[in-house]
Amino acid sequence: MSQVHLSNHPLVKHKLTVLRDMKTEHKKFRELVREIAILLAYEATSDMTLRDVIVTSPLGRATGHMLEEKIGLVPVLRAGLGMLDGIWEMMPSAEVWHIGLFRDEETLRPVEYYNKLPVSPTVDVCLVLDPMLATGGSATAVVSILKEWGARRIKFVGILAAPEGIERLTRAHPDVPIYLAAVDERLNENGFIVPGLGDAGDRQFGTG
Ligand code: PRP
Repeated sequence: MSQVHLSNHPLVKHKLTVLRDMKTEHKKFRELVREIAILLAYEATSDMTLRDVIVTSPLGRATGHMLEEKIGLVPVLRAGLGMLDGIWEMMPSAEVWHIGLFRDEETLRPVEYYNKLPVSPTVDVCLVLDPMLATGGSATAVVSILKEWGARRIKFVGILAAPEGIERLTRAHPDVPIYLAAVDERLNENGFIVPGLGDAGDRQFGTG
């Protein structure tokens, strides 16, 4: 579990609790996904490398720091879309590369349906955005796609995980740190995280 970074921030805990509540309606749910994503991305980017720069203020010169690495944000369609905008506002120079996957309801295996990655990698660090790490099949597949693309550093930023998903992703990709708001008890017989928050895609887009 050493690659798992569980947020201990009171704001994350509070917002996650409201997110889980079945009475929370779609608009509020989307706002919470956006806000929790920003807070988790703050933690996930705490080790980004910086280069020193000299900046001139109205009163003189100061040594400052600028991000050295090019960040790629990789929202996993659909549910990961809700995590994108807030994070992107915090790092507007990031590139955004969408990956489309859905989980086959019977086999629970991920099915890829959208991928427009160019031939060679254009970023130094990828943040994979997907609120749910359930069986871990989707996250494992996305990381494999990014590694095949040539991405050197990859981090997974989710919201909720089941222990099964963490184990699968960690076993397949032990080099990928996982940032989460919480780890729940287990998966149910339909592959849903329990107690979880329901279907993150449906609850964001009003399709549930
Ligand atoms: C959900 C979720 C993850 C995946 C997690 O997506 O957003 O992508 O399932 O499950 P896994 O860890 O077992 O692979 P879903 O297939 O429901 O598609 P959606 O985002 O379009 O709703």
